[in-house]
Amino acid sequence: EAAEKAGFEHFMLKEIYEQPTVLQHTLGGRFAGNGTDVQLELGLDPLAVDRVVISACGTAFYSGLVGEYLIERLARLPVEVEIASEFRYREPVLDERTLCVVVSQSGETIDTLEALREAKRQGARTLAVLNAKGSSISREADDVLYIHAGPEIGVASTKAYTAMVAAFELLAIFLGRARGVLSGEAAAELIRALRALPGLVEETLGARPEIAAVAEAFKDKRDYLFLGRGANYPTALEGALKLKEISYIHAEAYATGEMKHGPIALIDADMPVVAVATASALYDKTISNLQEVRARDGVVIALASRGDEAIRAHADHVIYVPRTLELVSPIVNVVALQLLAYETAARLGRDVDQPRNLAKSVTVE
Ligand code: G6P
Repeated sequence: EAAEKAGFEHFMLKEIYEQPTVLQHTLGGRFAGNGTDVQLELGLDPLAVDRVVISACGTAFYSGLVGEYLIERLARLPVEVEIASEFRYREPVLDERTLCVVVSQSGETIDTLEALREAKRQGARTLAVLNAKGSSISREADDVLYIHAGPEIGVASTKAYTAMVAAFELLAIFLGRARGVLSGEAAAELIRALRALPGLVEETLGARPEIAAVAEAFKDKRDYLFLGRGANYPTALEGALKLKEISYIHAEAYATGEMKHGPIALIDADMPVVAVATASALYDKTISNLQEVRARDGVVIALASRGDEAIRAHADHVIYVPRTLELVSPIVNVVALQLLAYETAARLGRDVDQPRNLAKSVTVE
């Protein structure tokens, strides 16, 4: 087992560090047309789709939430994202012009498999975004888009998540181009940013010392609040999920703009607030939310774009990550939050790779 960890203390850490390579595998060979197009080898006809419904569990569900932002923005298709255990029992309204996308690392999660079966029963077109080859879901979906993340051993998913989001970047560009709503120039800009991702994620891993200092400072807190908005709202959700799964610290995520509708009541010096505040169209609004947190004695840990010196005036700790397009930033940003969860759990002596009560793959209801 020590050999399989390749010198890392835990599988999770090894898998976090594999992400630059994994992203190369997810994205590799999938660009075409002089860097203006994506090629996915799907049977799916993008012009036969009016609506997209994404269904999954856990971390895969959060990747679907990023997918929603991407597909709506780039392909101008309405998207709904639903937890598979809810979707399968709610008699969803679907038809043959609905594309139902299920997302799963293992391809064996029972609720996700049943969500797929329900979608097929209703005549929807189905596509599975998967990691494991030859899985139950791979055999039943009309189309499969593999993320090529390789085996993931750590129960808390890391590399599969970033690879799933990367797959949604590809799918959104593919649908947008095929439907004629995404220009070649806009696609080329995104594709350039995607090609730069392995390097940017590598750089993000370099922030580990600062992240470890934050983990050390707050490891004994009982609650954390994570904030993010837009395509990084799911980043906040995933950051909170990672922290609670492996450190057992209670963590809650909110859309930044929703903070004043509830969690602001909890803010005090004892609940660190991790805010995704990287470059975005709504950056200024995020800054005013941070001011509101600090006015209530809250402690702000900001995830910021490299070069943003001004944010230091609004945060107690700043973790810098490389700059990229807002729509690509969830992949970079989440890596810093994975490290925060890891560094916290490791300091608390938790069983990082096999957290209590959790299973890698939930195959029974
Ligand atoms: C379990 C795992 C999670 C995973 C979820 C969905 O809860 O602990 O890490 O995100 O199942 O798994 P899947 O294999 O369908 O992506």
